[in-house]
Amino acid sequence: MSLRLGVLVSGSGSNLQAILDASREGQLDAEVRVVVSDSPGAYGLERARRADVPARVVPWEPGRPRQEHDRAVVEVLRGHGVDTVVLAGYMRLVTGELLAAFPGRVVNIHPALLPAFPGLHVHEKVLAHGAKFSGCTVHFVDEGTDTGPIICQAVVPVRDDDTPETLAARILREEHRIYPQALQYLAEGRLRVEGRRVFLDPSSPGSGTLHNPSVRF
Ligand code: GRF
Repeated sequence: MSLRLGVLVSGSGSNLQAILDASREGQLDAEVRVVVSDSPGAYGLERARRADVPARVVPWEPGRPRQEHDRAVVEVLRGHGVDTVVLAGYMRLVTGELLAAFPGRVVNIHPALLPAFPGLHVHEKVLAHGAKFSGCTVHFVDEGTDTGPIICQAVVPVRDDDTPETLAARILREEHRIYPQALQYLAEGRLRVEGRRVFLDPSSPGSGTLHNPSVRF
């Protein structure tokens, strides 16, 4: 079933761009119906306009209850016939208002291998911890912070000379691959959620064990 996407962005929107490109190229069976931002300066809004997609701002007003903000967002999404909500660099925690309006149809991407390193300043935390791998995770959204059932992940090595910026760039390249792919699985009706686990039917296992540094035995 072709997806009718509402994409929520706060910043650059490079994941939005990957989704727009994948739909245009026929790899992703989806139409981006509207892009919504909490911030009028988000470059993602410009990307939407360039792709002839409606771009809307629901400005974040400090002190306004989050539920109220989300009610306004839901109204915009419904007004554009959205059936699936894609958080793509959206810097607000969503509430039950949004989740109840699109049950099981809200997805997010996080630039780490969840459940490790949820929240903000992820790459700094990964480097400070000395992790040898990081990556990205596409997951269904629940009321927690980066806690929902995991759809797919990509792993990248952490290099000794990495800075938060170089690590972020290596991970972002993979985000642009797995986010459209995860959405295509959803479009194909191939994702089955059982508790915390998400199964792909039929399954398509990934490419195997990784070592960093390499193993000589
Ligand atoms: C990505 O790293 C995403 O995982 C995180 O915020 C960043 C957004 O990048 N949630 P962009 O706006 O899609 O370029």
